[in-house]
Amino acid sequence: MDAKETIAVLDFGSQTAQLIARRIREQNVHSELLRPDIPAADLKARGVSGIVLSGGPASVYVQGAPDCDAGIFDLGVPVLGICYGMQIGVQKLGGVVEPTPSREFGRTKLTMLEAEGLLAHLPDESTVWMSHGDQVQRVGPDFVPLATTGTCPVAAVRHRSRPFYGVQFHPEVTHTAFGTQILRNFVYDVCGCTGAWQMGSFIEQQVESIRARVGDAKVICGLSGGVDSAVVAALIHRAIGDQLVCIFVDNGLLRKNEAELVEATFRGHFHLDLRVARAGERFLGRLKGVTDPQEKRRIIGHEFIEAFNAEAKTIANAKFLAQGTLYPDVIESGASVGGKADVIKGHHNVWGLPADMKFELIEPLRDLFKDEVRIVGEHLGLPEEIVWRHPFPGPGLAVRILGEITEPRLAMLRDADEIVIEEIRAGNLYRSIAQAFAVLLPISSVGVMGDGRSYDYTIAVRAVETRDFMTADWVRMPYEVLAVIANRIINEVRGVNRVVYDLSSKPPATIEWE
Ligand code: XMP
Repeated sequence: MDAKETIAVLDFGSQTAQLIARRIREQNVHSELLRPDIPAADLKARGVSGIVLSGGPASVYVQGAPDCDAGIFDLGVPVLGICYGMQIGVQKLGGVVEPTPSREFGRTKLTMLEAEGLLAHLPDESTVWMSHGDQVQRVGPDFVPLATTGTCPVAAVRHRSRPFYGVQFHPEVTHTAFGTQILRNFVYDVCGCTGAWQMGSFIEQQVESIRARVGDAKVICGLSGGVDSAVVAALIHRAIGDQLVCIFVDNGLLRKNEAELVEATFRGHFHLDLRVARAGERFLGRLKGVTDPQEKRRIIGHEFIEAFNAEAKTIANAKFLAQGTLYPDVIESGASVGGKADVIKGHHNVWGLPADMKFELIEPLRDLFKDEVRIVGEHLGLPEEIVWRHPFPGPGLAVRILGEITEPRLAMLRDADEIVIEEIRAGNLYRSIAQAFAVLLPISSVGVMGDGRSYDYTIAVRAVETRDFMTADWVRMPYEVLAVIANRIINEVRGVNRVVYDLSSKPPATIEWE
């Protein structure tokens, strides 16, 4: 890897700053987010090939608005300003930024004035995505406007003598038809990158930095069976081997063979130091008679922390706790590199740590999106079954059994769930579905089995497609697959005589039933 080939993205608090870095990484050029006020000398020392100034929620002419070191425009390194980033650059280099008469959000038509350099290979007209309240109103003779829209006279611009470019629209979002082309033009043609970087280099970099940070201390990592914690464990294990200790809490609420898969993968294949806290009985004891969903979650959360910490306390010299926090968790919690992004909602990925256990956090996947994490997992040699696993809630099957949780109900649900997944895999649908599972309803209904009357439970089958799990739609599943699922559940799972398919989308329903 060419160490020089890094594009720095200075994050002014944009919801899409990380997306810019990711789009650049997709072009096989390394990119990372940095604080907006990083000194120009630091950027020079890092030897960055280019700098992107992200958008942001502030107005450049308001006092206290996030700023950057003006020295970055003197480094001779190409700078691309996006939205707020363009306004900052133009303002510092002598242009005028003003509020627009009406804030502009959404798709608009871009008309080209100079289709070369940054905007090479773009048609005369194309769709771009705007989201701004201010815009560059006038540029002096030092600038060349490159494109316009109906309401934005300077939608793209370059400086005549310095390598500064700006776009008022957002090339990083998919709604901008030629956005990827623009970023590609910037990193390859303007910055002169060669594209030698791949996810494998991400692993090498992380391995190096984890080794340097951890020294000879121990790192604890909680495995959940899901892809994120699995990738974190595999990555850290590659860096520090036996200094990593993983804790897996078997809460008795797992899917069929889940604990076995985790043990086989991590102890069997990776030879990793895996401690399994078998706490199923304890969890089920605490959940006896509990039917309220929030109460279930509270008890499970509490017991999890107890079980995890009891195990963690037995590990000497443990200084670090590794977590599978991903970029969407970071942005949802409102944290940006510059600490300025607006809060959308709090995230639930961080466990409560006991006050007497002071760990430093290691979160190697903080900059990545889920699909990037899966690529890293594949590079690290994790089995496909883990890398492509559908997400599973922390409270496990407890939130998929409506009403009280008992061993016989858990057994029924596990069997039904296994059939749902088997048939979805057999139909080659597993990867195209975001999440599929069975839910046990506390409803008995009348049926006939053989010559006799039955009065048994109902299973609801849920399958959703979604990109971000914030909104979701039910999957238009082929009838043949549904028919086999229903038939098998009714025939093979004792105690169930009826199967229904959930046709609700989110919102207003949620993905889980509780
Ligand atoms: P909902 O049901 O809120 O689920 O539409 C959205 C996504 O989050 C998962 N989920 C959870 N994950 N702890 C978790 O770790 C939880 O308490 C929890 N509740 C829901 C759910 O499976 C879906 O992927």
